[in-house]
Amino acid sequence: MSQQPLIEMKGISKSFVGNKVLDNVNFEVRAGEVHALLGENGAGKSTLMKILTGIYQRDEGEVLVKGEPVHFQSANDSEKKGIAVIHQELNIIPYLTVMENMFLGREIKYGKTGFINKKRMVQKTKEYLDQLGVEINPLAKAKELSVGQQQMVEIAKALSLNAEVIVMDEPTAALTDREIERLFNVVEKLREQGVGIVYISHRMEEIFKICDRISVLRDGEYIGTREVENVEYDEIISMLVGRELGTLFPERDTKVGQVRLKVENLSSDMFNDISFEVKEGEILGVAGLMGAGRSEIMQALFGYRDLENGKIYIDGQETKIKKPLDAIKAGIGFVTEDRKEEGLVLTMSVRENFTLTNLKDVSNQSIISGQKESQFVNSMISRFNVKTSGMEQEVKSLSGGNQQKIVIGKWLGINPKILILDEPTRGVDVGAKKEIYQIMNELTEQGVSIIMISSELPEVLGMSDRIMVIHEGQIGAELNRDEADQEKIMFAATGGE
Ligand SMILES: Nc1ncnc2c1ncn2[C@@H]1O[C@H](COP(=O)(O)OP(=O)(O)OP(=O)(O)O)[C@@H](O)[C@H]1O
Ligand SMILES: [Mg+2]
Repeated sequence: MSQQPLIEMKGISKSFVGNKVLDNVNFEVRAGEVHALLGENGAGKSTLMKILTGIYQRDEGEVLVKGEPVHFQSANDSEKKGIAVIHQELNIIPYLTVMENMFLGREIKYGKTGFINKKRMVQKTKEYLDQLGVEINPLAKAKELSVGQQQMVEIAKALSLNAEVIVMDEPTAALTDREIERLFNVVEKLREQGVGIVYISHRMEEIFKICDRISVLRDGEYIGTREVENVEYDEIISMLVGRELGTLFPERDTKVGQVRLKVENLSSDMFNDISFEVKEGEILGVAGLMGAGRSEIMQALFGYRDLENGKIYIDGQETKIKKPLDAIKAGIGFVTEDRKEEGLVLTMSVRENFTLTNLKDVSNQSIISGQKESQFVNSMISRFNVKTSGMEQEVKSLSGGNQQKIVIGKWLGINPKILILDEPTRGVDVGAKKEIYQIMNELTEQGVSIIMISSELPEVLGMSDRIMVIHEGQIGAELNRDEADQEKIMFAATGGE
């Protein structure tokens, strides 16, 4: 390992319209290390990496690449210096194919002719995806892929750039255990090749597993750097949050009532013969591998996709749900897994996003009341602890975890009877996770029925009253809270192999 770090960032400061989000931050990356960059939602991690890669310009400070000062004006500049990023907000263009996304702007041509060598690009795309052990058709349109698959394409793209430094901004947020394992193998290989990796994640177990050093940011300030070997979990947490956190999963005092939702024999092209119930005040956890059909079942229940067969009963009444509006009218709320596609209107403000599904509550006789609206929005901001410069901030410029809080908050305003949460804490920091769990408990105490799809087994086990495991579009197992454990869930999720 050479002495000279690959990357040195010194005294970096950055403000957005008077709001200082990075203050005198230091960070370095050495060859052959996996360096975790940690911090709560809104701490400034993504911003620091966007400064490194030329997407944002720093106000103060220095960036050195192998000792040489640089001023990147665009991501293109930093790519040329061997720095690749897998962004937290996926950068995939939905209407292009996987291959086109991989080679956008750097197409492989036939010699000097200038004609695009499609065959070679397809082959290369396949090679990089093979390295990750995923089977994705290079010619599939990106929009046909699941979020997890899109993430894999982004990772493959970073590999294809042969970068010396790869920034991974929450790469595993949309992946299941198997894909994460594969990604870790790739990270291991890259490390052996001397690549420096910046690894951003809110999942502590990952940090301890693959990282060599950690650096912590809090509220835009640099708190410190530690060797993972010499640091305890509790020390990291207190560096992160500046206080003791206590247990992550709050005590659940479950009192379930009548059957609230009952579905019988739901079938479509993606799943078959799904029957289950959820009671008042109950949390039903839905586990399974990516692509098992969990989200699709819930989308059908919400009227986002067609059912071939099946009946839905709410409070004993058969209810026809043909479109999302029917579901909303029947008292169902749905927090989707893909906040960018379905959950939020990114170009709108925090205020507009909160009120979008809650127009009734903020209006007097169908005219929006400014006073009611700001009361409502401010109460939501404080309830969810959203880090924002004010309710007019564009949602696009909030940190990832804060966007997620808005997606959840948005649906709570309609006072749903049944709330479907698809990966509710993806990309959310530990403090905010705990807040979301507490909110889930408060809701169930008020009688709301919650269906929670989650790929994080500790979360499924920590929060569910009952667990339904989906395997290849069918129910693989139903487990009570007391009998469930990681092994049983994984066993059922993989078809009992
Ligand atoms: N383009 C922008 N305009 C205005 N404010 C911004 C912009 N980009 C980021 N911010 C603000 O900077 C702060 C840091 O955001 P950043 O995205 O870096 O956080 P993060 O540490 O990556 O959080 P998360 O874990 O939620 O992804 C936040 O308060 C955010 O609202
Ligand atoms: Mg971020």
